Amino acid sequence: MSPASQPHPLKAHRSASLQGVAAVPGDKSISHRALILGGLALGETRITGLLEAEDVLNTAEAVRAFGAKVIRVGERGAWHVHGTGVGGWNEPENVLDFGNSGTGSRLVMGAMATTHLTAVFTGDASLRKRPMGRVLEPLKLFGAEYVARAGGLMPVTLKGAAEPICVDHEVTVASAQVKSAMLLAALNAPGRSRISQTALTRDHTERMLTAFGADISIEPLPEGGEVISLMGEAELKGARVDVPRDPSSAAFVIVAGLIVPGSEITLPGILLNPRRIGLIDTLLEMGANIEITHPRESGGEKIGDLIVRSSVLKGVHVPAARVPAMIDEFPILSVAAAFAEGDTTMSGLDELRLKETDRLAAMLAGLRAAGVAAEGGEYDLVVHGSGADGVVGGGHVATRMDHRIAMSFLVMGLASREPISVDDASVIATSFPEFEHLMRHLGAVFSE
Ligand code: S3P
Repeated sequence: MSPASQPHPLKAHRSASLQGVAAVPGDKSISHRALILGGLALGETRITGLLEAEDVLNTAEAVRAFGAKVIRVGERGAWHVHGTGVGGWNEPENVLDFGNSGTGSRLVMGAMATTHLTAVFTGDASLRKRPMGRVLEPLKLFGAEYVARAGGLMPVTLKGAAEPICVDHEVTVASAQVKSAMLLAALNAPGRSRISQTALTRDHTERMLTAFGADISIEPLPEGGEVISLMGEAELKGARVDVPRDPSSAAFVIVAGLIVPGSEITLPGILLNPRRIGLIDTLLEMGANIEITHPRESGGEKIGDLIVRSSVLKGVHVPAARVPAMIDEFPILSVAAAFAEGDTTMSGLDELRLKETDRLAAMLAGLRAAGVAAEGGEYDLVVHGSGADGVVGGGHVATRMDHRIAMSFLVMGLASREPISVDDASVIATSFPEFEHLMRHLGAVFSE
């Protein structure tokens, strides 16, 4: 499991143009799912492009602890998983430590909730503050039981249902993790479960279940959203998963390219699933010069190459309906907004308060530390842009164990007048270990 690393302060300096090709790592959401479904399938799952970052490695370790064979096969990102079949997992001998990862822990809770097994889940200080009741309560419908700390916090002991039943349930929070946990639980419950959700959250679990041979269908609901029907006691067959590059990691490179004058960066093979590209849509509305070339399909997902050139940005309003499609991208959007002319307003940010930290509070504090005018409500944010050369910078930003806060404010420091430092860049390893190296290669200037 992930070692507690030493804090690594880092300072970003105004940089000359960023140029080159940025091969960002594999998608985090798809990587977690490939390992978990591989562990539940019969036969071999061959994965290429797996994200080898702390969050995903913790999921690999957990899937191993349930008895699947998970092997890294030489080349970077190439992994083979030999699963046990749905219902075939063994009881882990020890506590499962998911480090910083909400996704890994919640999805694995779902996958084991309809087995006769008991497992104990924990994580780092950030994960131990995040609500688990949103997953554990609906998992009780299948017959699972749990004990958690007050407020539904980890460590959590989950006792799976020895005789699970299928469910008909509406997921009321706009969370793909909760939806996915329910779908993974439904895999081992006899009969057809129906899981509905109004928000159109990322659909990688549904797509991958189809690829692994599950009996799954999706219907739109007249009132908006959709209902997913999934037949239980599923026989999943190992599949090939080519993980596309992560648009949520690409986001930091894209915004850096937009705000550092004279830049041109090419990002090949980026996942362009319509439920993940809210940031690109927003940046285009802001006037960003982002070209999408070679659109193609890979493993049931849309991908394409992006060419980003520095741009004059203007403030926009981000509608609440777009939030699920860019839920992880608000910290870096707030950076782009600081360099735009005029105000950028964001609303419907409830879920942002429940991430690796309260991101709304962390964004506001970071923006203010860097001399950017911004106001936050309970669930909204206004950033008063100061234009391309108007961000003063010079502040010190607390990353609060949040990789995306760390990367966002380092990107800001590449274009602000004074350098910006973050107290701990080691947290970036949870999702994008090569961030500093890749950015330096493009021309970014950092110092310790
Ligand atoms: C994820 C879903 C999102 C996102 C997270 C990854 C996933 O969380 O923030 O980084 O892979 O399902 P929620 O579903 O809780 O919004």
